[in-house]
Amino acid sequence: MNRTDELIKEIQEVKKSYPKTKAALLPVLYLAQREFGWLRPEALEFVSEALDIPKATVKGVATFYAMYKHKLMGRHLIQLCTNVSCMIFGAERLVDFLKNKYGLEVGGTTADGRFSLVIMECIGACGTAPAMLVNDDFYENLTEKYIEEILEKYK
Ligand code: FES
Repeated sequence: MNRTDELIKEIQEVKKSYPKTKAALLPVLYLAQREFGWLRPEALEFVSEALDIPKATVKGVATFYAMYKHKLMGRHLIQLCTNVSCMIFGAERLVDFLKNKYGLEVGGTTADGRFSLVIMECIGACGTAPAMLVNDDFYENLTEKYIEEILEKYK
C-alpha cells in the first residue's frame, strides 16, 4: 500500500466518525497537511476529490484557520501568542529573542528549515502568559531561557 492509498484509507476512517462528509473537512485537511507538508494546491484538490466537496469550499475553509500551513514551513512550527496578557508579560521581548538568537522572523523560517514562527491570537493561557505551541505541544510561563530549553527538544 503506497502513501496515497494509506491516506485515502485514513480519510475513509475519519469520514465514518461524522454524520456528514462535510463535517470531516477539518480533520481531513489536517491529514492532507501532514502528508503534503502544507496545504498546497494539490493537497486542496486531493481533499476536494476525497470528500466530494467543491475546491472553492475546501480552500475557503483551509484559509480561514491559522492552524493550517499555507506555505512551505520548517520542520517545527512555533505559534507564539502576543495578545494582551502575553504582551504584558513580555511576548514582544520573546519575538525579539527568537529573531536575535535563531534568525527567526515572524512569518519566516530559519535558514536550516528547523523552525517557522507565526503569531497567534490568545491561546487560552492568559493566566500563565506568555504562552506558545510548538507543533502540538503547549508551553506557558515562557522566558528566553525556557524557550531555549524547549527548542533544544526539536531537532
Ligand atoms: S493572551 Fe496569550 S494566551 Fe491569552
